[in-house]
Amino acid sequence: MTFKSRLLVTVAVAAMSASAPAAAETLTLYCSPQIEWCQLVIEEFQKATGIEVAMTRKSSGETYAQLKAEKDNPKGDVWWGGTGDPHLQAAEEKLTLEYKSPMLDKLRPWAQQQAKQSGYRTVGIYLGVLGYGYNTELLAKKGLPEPKCWADLAKPEYKGEVQIANPNSSGTSYTTLATMVQLMGEDKAFDFLKAMHKNVNQYTKSGSAPIKAAARGETVIGVSFLHDVVTEIVEGFPLKSVSPCEGTGYEIGSMSIIKGARHMAAAKKFYDWALTPEAQSLMVKAKAYQLPSNASVDAPPQAPKASATKLIDYDFAKYGSSEERRRLLAKWDKEVKDLPR
Ligand code: G6P
Repeated sequence: MTFKSRLLVTVAVAAMSASAPAAAETLTLYCSPQIEWCQLVIEEFQKATGIEVAMTRKSSGETYAQLKAEKDNPKGDVWWGGTGDPHLQAAEEKLTLEYKSPMLDKLRPWAQQQAKQSGYRTVGIYLGVLGYGYNTELLAKKGLPEPKCWADLAKPEYKGEVQIANPNSSGTSYTTLATMVQLMGEDKAFDFLKAMHKNVNQYTKSGSAPIKAAARGETVIGVSFLHDVVTEIVEGFPLKSVSPCEGTGYEIGSMSIIKGARHMAAAKKFYDWALTPEAQSLMVKAKAYQLPSNASVDAPPQAPKASATKLIDYDFAKYGSSEERRRLLAKWDKEVKDLPR
């Protein structure tokens, strides 16, 4: 090739690349709350920024395990939602990135505390209170008494009538396990879990599956966050929610940027956007009734009333640590999961 023709080729290639449309910015989101909310959030974020989002929904414990498995070759950018404990565990293991959003001081104190506690590797996006719900029609049909306390779930009359998720995969169920240990002390908590096991018809993968099953009459009782009971009641199902008489625990639903994210600029844009009042006001449209973390967004009127609940002083430092998670789950696997019914 002569010098002149080589120059022509170079100019032509340069012209082609100048006129080619820029590749669209993309984001890979790991989402742990209910799928309807995940979908609405990505639609609205795409509208607001033009960034294309690829999203998968997995439970909190499953996503934490995925982050660990992908540690050396991260595929996700942001992990949005799900219970706070596994976000804290991911932070402790430095699977997630330290980031201080300019939105941080607009958040409620518990959301800021979650960020501080993790060395700014996660942040609170919503708060939800744990409890359970039961199908009022099925309860009446079976002539069962109204349950009111955690202790009721271990009574023989509810044999085969209780559904709860597996604490390995589900953050809802890990929150339940940690709540029982804090409420009763570890020995009594495991006695309770073993007794309740006789009544459990299924350990599901996802935390909201049991209350959906109760709503559809597939089980009488489903252990769940109280706002997930509200979602089913709003859908018209015959459920009643129970704020257990002994008191109960809660979650600080959280968000983290995955360390080594391939789309870091888009990840930070999503993170900041997800803390805005606009983004947090979307939850009602998705029939999600947690308490939002942005202080200027009120809890939806249908949200469970905090005043109706006796909350424990949940020890996030302890139950959000990797070692305690491993220990409690190994103990549950060994002593509870495979017991005969
Ligand atoms: C539901 C709740 C969320 C919670 C999530 C955890 O979607 O509405 O508040 O964070 O469950 O899901 P998991 O499947 O991990 O229990």
